Formats: sequence, structure tokens, C-alpha cells
Amino acid sequence: MSIKLNCRYLEKFLSEADYQSIADEVTAAHSQLYENKASAAGNAYHGWLTLPEDYDKEEFARIKKAARKIRSDSKALVVIGIGGSYLGARAAIEFVKSKNYNLVEENGPKIFFTGNSISPTEISEILNYCRSCDFSVNVISKSGTTTEPAIAFRLFKKLLEEKYGKAEAAKRIYVTTDRVKGTLKALADSEGYEEFVVPDGVGGRYSVLTAVGLLPIAAAGVDIDALMNGAADAMRRYEKGDLYTNDCCRYAAIRNLLYRKGKKVEMMVSFEPDYTLMNEWFKQLFGESEGKDGKGIFPASAIYSTDLHSMGQYVQEGERILFETVVDFRHPKCDIGIEADDVNADGLNFLAGKTLSFVNKKAYQGTVLAHCDGDVPVIILEVDRPDAYNLGELFYFLEKTCAVSGYILGVNPFNQPGVESYKKNMFALIGKPGYEEMKQDLEKRIEE
Ligand code: PA5
Repeated sequence: MSIKLNCRYLEKFLSEADYQSIADEVTAAHSQLYENKASAAGNAYHGWLTLPEDYDKEEFARIKKAARKIRSDSKALVVIGIGGSYLGARAAIEFVKSKNYNLVEENGPKIFFTGNSISPTEISEILNYCRSCDFSVNVISKSGTTTEPAIAFRLFKKLLEEKYGKAEAAKRIYVTTDRVKGTLKALADSEGYEEFVVPDGVGGRYSVLTAVGLLPIAAAGVDIDALMNGAADAMRRYEKGDLYTNDCCRYAAIRNLLYRKGKKVEMMVSFEPDYTLMNEWFKQLFGESEGKDGKGIFPASAIYSTDLHSMGQYVQEGERILFETVVDFRHPKCDIGIEADDVNADGLNFLAGKTLSFVNKKAYQGTVLAHCDGDVPVIILEVDRPDAYNLGELFYFLEKTCAVSGYILGVNPFNQPGVESYKKNMFALIGKPGYEEMKQDLEKRIEE
């Protein structure tokens, strides 16, 4: 078993009676995912549950083929998408390869993620880079109508067509979108782009194990067979609906128990900077799934020991609303030995013969004990090593925890109605047809 939920630092915060008090709710929440589908909120979006086994094998083979082509004909891959159509792929590449993938990778294309902001500065940097090298584009949008990626795609499509001509450009554009609907689907059909599908029952933030994540991940040279195998093993391992045998259920129970005791913020923490984007993926998954109806644990994140020098003070002594989930890797990707120094001007010779991973581990252990002493409940997720197999397991583990946790909380973990508010205002303010009246009202409010 590669993921282990270690609860030893929760003993002073949660009792056996606490676990017993929530056990039935956990079982009911878990059942909502499998039974009585017609009445479960979000029941149309349970497709990710069985995805590791019943994914489209023909499409999977096409993904690998497309990834090989991109690796052979492109020095850069521009991945255009936002939210669930962005974070998983980037998180996976940084987790398995490196946070500095574009700096250190010698055998694959540089991978740029864009369309996840509307910053002209960021987009023009990537456009400029792509002017001078062979590149391909993977545009990803389940709805096919999201403004941020649509704008970016218009710009990169134009550059591709200027550079290669329309016919060759079309061979360098890969579209991942809905099976039948949306502007992007219509465009892909009319231009003859290679298409990949976001399956019907899989929402954006649960879609990393579909073509949404798999094509960019494979293009980066990550073993997507191992990724799916890890997820499939997790699917079998975490199938029971009780908190005593299923760690997803136990973690979901712990989150809700702590929330009910006033712990409103969960900080996902790792001592590995390559985990930074996994933190972002986690925040989107849990924030968008649970933050609704005036409820929800606020998902935050930190990379230690970096952020111990910025957030550490608050965590240790600020308002007691936090709990931490620390992802600890048993084996780092590599290690560095510390050698003795003749002069020892820095006074570090006491570390001679030790390794950086030893020091990092001691920082982790010391931090957990200090935070626990400061009344911060700490959950530990032990993960064997940061590779594709373990990542598949972790993705599935966190997705299932999130779904069960959301149902315990009493929300629909598969919708995101609140995201529409900013979109409507933005559409009105940029002059989208149909929003004229709203535009006037908003502009008046801005001027006041
Ligand atoms: O989880 C979600 O559904 C969202 O975060 C979406 O992924 C995000 O809004 C992007 O949507 P789309 O893929 O339709 O462009």
C-alpha cells in the first residue's frame, strides 16, 4: 500500500467516540456515490469513480500516439485551459518530473500552460517564445465556451496558421472537449483537428485521468499506464463505505469532525516543492466541491520549510481555526550528501555525512510536533515516492475523499454555481451581446 493515512497526531483532538458519532453519516455519504443514483445530488457526475477501469482504451492509444507525435515534431507544447482543464496536468508533470520541468527536461518539449489567466504579459511571453520554435497546441475545455482559454486559443491558432499555413497548423492542434456540444467542438469538427473527449459523467476538477490530463502528461514523457494502474489499484482499495477500512472515508470523516469543532481551514502541506501544483489542484478540487451553501472547509496550502518563514508564525500561534494535512514522501527523487569542510566557518560540520533528505525529514518531524503542541491537528498522508503510479493512487484517493466529504457536509460536490457570478459581470463589462442592461448597471456602480 503506497498511501498511508497516519492519524497519530490527531489523538488529542479526536476521540473514538467522535469517530463513532459520524460513522453512519460516512457510510450514507459513500452510498450516495453508488446507490440511489437518481436522487443523489450531482449523480450525473459520478463517472470518475470507475474511470481507472472503464476508460476508453481506443482513445488512450490515440493519446499516446499524439503524445509521441508532439514529442517528435515540437519543441514546445502550449496547453490551453483553466480550472479543472488545467491544474491536474500541470500538477502531474511537476509532481513526477519537476517543478522546474521546462528548465531541466532535455528529452521532451517545453510545456507552457496558458489560457488560465487573461494577462497580456504572460500570454505574450509564451507567444514570443513560440515564434522561434516548432510548437503544437492542446486546447482543453469541457464546455468549449470558457472565455479565458477561448481568447488564448484564438491567439495561438493565429500564430500557428501564420507559421505553418492552415493545413499544417490543423495537424498541430489537439482539442479536448465535450463529445457533442460547445463552440470548441464545432470549431474542431469544421477545421478537422484531432479530438479527444471529456466523458459525460466526469466534471472538470475530476477529469485529470481523462484526455484532459493524460495528453499533456504523456507529452511530458510521464508513464500514463503507471498512472492509470495506480488509480485502478486505489479504486479497488477504497471501495468500502466505512471509515474503519477505507482511508478515504476516514479522512473525509476527520475533515468533517474537525470542521464541526471550529477548524475551518485545511492547509495541505508538503516539504517537497514539486508538490506546489498538487496543492493548487487540491485547492480547486476541494474548494469548488465544498464551498457552497454558506458551508465548507477553506482549502489553503503551503510548501515547507519555505513557508514556515512566512506562514509558520500564524500556523503556530494565530487563530486556532486550522488543521494541516502533510504529504510525506518515504523516498525522495534524489539526495545530496553533506561533506565535512576543513574550515567549518558556517559551523555545519555536525551535519557531515548526513544527507539533505535527512535534514528535510527532521524539519518535517520537528514541525509536526511543534504544530501539534500549538493545537493544530495534523493529518499525515504518507506516500511512497513521487512517481506516476503513486500519483494515480493519490489523485483517486483525494477525489474520493472530496466526494465523500462533500456529501457528509450536505452539499453537492459536483456543481459550481458560484463561479457564474463573476463570469456574468465580466461578460457584461466586456460588451458581450445579450448583457447590455447589466453593463449599464455595473458601469454605474463602478463610477459611483
Ligand atoms: O471543475 C470545473 O468544472 C471547473 O473548474 C472547470 O474545469 C473550469 O471552469 C473550466 O471549464 P471548461 O473546461 O468548461 O473550460
